[in-house]
Amino acid sequence: MACDKNKSISGFSKLTKQEKVDWVARHFFDAPEKVREELSGFWHGDIQLQKTIDGFSENTISNFVMPFGVAPNFLINDNTYCVPMVIEESSVVAAASSAAKFWMTRGGFTAEILGTVKMGQLHFTWNGDVSKLKNSLEGIEALLRENTTHITANMRKRGGGILGIELLDFTNQEPGLYQFKVSFETCDSMGANFINSILEEFGRTLNSYLATAEGFEDHEREATIIMAILSNYTPDCIVRAKVECPIENLGNFPRGITAEVFAEKFRMAVRIAQIDPFRATTHNKGIFNGIDAVVLATANDFRAIEANGHTYASRDGQYRSLSHCSIDNGTFKFWLDIPLTVGTVGGLTHLHPIAKRSLELLGNPSAKELMGIIAAVGLAQNFGALKSLVTTGIQEGHMKMHLQNMLNHLEASNKEMEATINYFSDKVPSFSAVRKYLECLRAGNEQPEPALIFEKK
Ligand code: MEV
Repeated sequence: MACDKNKSISGFSKLTKQEKVDWVARHFFDAPEKVREELSGFWHGDIQLQKTIDGFSENTISNFVMPFGVAPNFLINDNTYCVPMVIEESSVVAAASSAAKFWMTRGGFTAEILGTVKMGQLHFTWNGDVSKLKNSLEGIEALLRENTTHITANMRKRGGGILGIELLDFTNQEPGLYQFKVSFETCDSMGANFINSILEEFGRTLNSYLATAEGFEDHEREATIIMAILSNYTPDCIVRAKVECPIENLGNFPRGITAEVFAEKFRMAVRIAQIDPFRATTHNKGIFNGIDAVVLATANDFRAIEANGHTYASRDGQYRSLSHCSIDNGTFKFWLDIPLTVGTVGGLTHLHPIAKRSLELLGNPSAKELMGIIAAVGLAQNFGALKSLVTTGIQEGHMKMHLQNMLNHLEASNKEMEATINYFSDKVPSFSAVRKYLECLRAGNEQPEPALIFEKK
């Protein structure tokens, strides 16, 4: 397809924000004036704050608004939290809140940090005698550490820094390919910039070592640095969130389902997600509904968290559930092991005004505490979804929220909302059905004509 000159531009980034909006509005919309007004309508009134927000990205033309909600009543390690959540999907915050309340009276959540080790990699190629490289490891490592002391100084004061450096040999898969696999402790920061700066310095240092070290031939004096970058897979930076109670304390469930039947169906639902990747994907998506919402609210990197979790879920070669359930001697246990790399200092955590408030709302937690909170919300979300799935089905709750959204969209009054919710309590509320019903109401007809009687659930 030919490039449309009308829709392409060079030097876009150099335009002022207003010029960017004008150009986009003029070239891509039928009603540019309206679009211009709408986009600039979302600019923040506080110019300084808007500048800060624009600085988070590039080519910004407006702000994209997402709901900021809270899920109260989270009892985690005997502390009560009101958890901030940013998410656009209805039912997620409601399900998290309801699961939090359910477990609050059953001992709450426990969260245990199983490790906090972050990872980074220096990938390089080198054509030489590998035994020389292996024999020089001690000297290379000493120099790598020495040449990065200026970067690690502050982190070491806080108890972190470089933990270990390992040489990996991939020459059986690709001639000349090696890697330094480096482990780090980054304390309360997510550590991406810290790790990447160290790894880039490692690349330079490796070559300065090879250039002067004894015993290397001329062709062995230089490695080709392919890339230096953290790994988002951190199987040793991991948290376990857990709930448990005697089965009889689970109580009774809708549709006359007893605690015993519920526990067994629930256990089986988790088991299915361990056996079948198609179900595991949806199951874990439900966990990430909760996790991503807190990660976003605290301005952490949800793409890193997602990538990490999904790799961990496939660690034995098959994609499986991140959560587990067992029934032992009448005790129902449900837990989630998940790698989470989050920060409570650095990045946008304190630059984004709402993220800063989110952290304050959580009592300014350490990174470890935040890992526990996020994992507990993921577990609560998973509990809420499975509880609905194995009892009433998911649609009952979803449709209620969906109906509410449709009514807001159709600008229904409170009275119209009440009548419509009541009317659809035993029917499927498709968008067209809801619109037609509202039209009937607005025409003064509360009982739709037979042609408008909608499908029963
Ligand atoms: C929907 O966003 C998430 C669920 O599909 C999760 C699940 O099926 O476990 C309800």
